[in-house]
Amino acid sequence: MKVLILYFSGTGNTKFIARKIGVELEERGHSATPASVEKLKPTEVGSYELLVFGYPIYGYDMPDFLNDYLEQMSLPSSRNAAVYYTMGYDGGNSLRTTAERLTALGFNVVGTAEFKMPGNDGLAIMDKDSETVHKVLNTDYEESPDIVERVKDLVDQIEGGNNQNGDERDSVLPQKHILYRFLTPITKFLFKLFERGFTGRFRADDSCIGCGLCERICPADNITVRAGKVEFGDDCYFCLRCLHQCPVEAIQITRFTEGKFRYRGPTGDYVPAPLEQNREAKNR
Ligand SMILES: Cc1cc2nc3c(=O)[nH]c(=O)nc-3n(C[C@H](O)[C@H](O)[C@H](O)COP(=O)(O)O)c2cc1C
Ligand code: SF4
Ligand code: SF4
Repeated sequence: MKVLILYFSGTGNTKFIARKIGVELEERGHSATPASVEKLKPTEVGSYELLVFGYPIYGYDMPDFLNDYLEQMSLPSSRNAAVYYTMGYDGGNSLRTTAERLTALGFNVVGTAEFKMPGNDGLAIMDKDSETVHKVLNTDYEESPDIVERVKDLVDQIEGGNNQNGDERDSVLPQKHILYRFLTPITKFLFKLFERGFTGRFRADDSCIGCGLCERICPADNITVRAGKVEFGDDCYFCLRCLHQCPVEAIQITRFTEGKFRYRGPTGDYVPAPLEQNREAKNR
């Protein structure tokens, strides 16, 4: 089976899982191509037999900008799809709602999975020598039994997908406790308030060296570095990539992030898609 694993990853967790799913698929004899939505235009998504779609949870749901991507995406004749997300603590009913979104676009969702990973939001306000940070740095996410099992389970669902009847298909759409149905709109609303509150609170402090990296890696094109001065616009996805990737830890959102931990992904070496792209172009 030819599988496209399409994902967005702000700080590396979702990309890490995309790679793990790809390796598992390849080991089982399938062809798997992980690709970031930042590298692949929605209208240039090529032909494949199954789409795996992965995203980080923001406010108990899929980041809004990915809705636009999905709606513009060119659809192949085979419409089988699987969905996963990564989260820090809880993703609410997001698997179900995203599966329903994909179904409305004409996909047949055959598998779903959630992955608990380090929360890039909480880590940005954690002391560098805190217990949580030590735990994150000392965990071997490559060999985590929970992640390995969940990846295998998702690929099992994908492989069984074509043979599922209607009831079995419905069972891959997890429906969390009924309370989540009410909770999700509330958390979404709170998240919108949070976004509004923090728009305009991003800043580069005096330690900024004007290197321009934040401008190059921002997926929303929301940062401009002019004459060594960093300016943030109003179109932020709140992915926190700039904050975690700045080489001198100059980016702050309020004083609570000052001197706090910066997260470079589960293996500590996350390279955002635009930089990877530049490197590939240079090596050509
Ligand atoms: C703005 C924002 C909102 C978040 N909201 C949630 C949430 O509601 N629930 C949760 O479990 N994790 C939440 N997180 C944590 C991320 O979902 C989690 O760290 C994810 O794995 C990040 O993936 P990435 O590294 O691929 O960007 C949030 C992170 C950010 C930046
Ligand atoms: S990445 Fe950091 S140091 Fe470089 S321009 Fe941006 S804020 Fe300044
Ligand atoms: S400015 Fe916003 S969208 Fe851009 S990298 Fe920073 S947090 Fe992400």
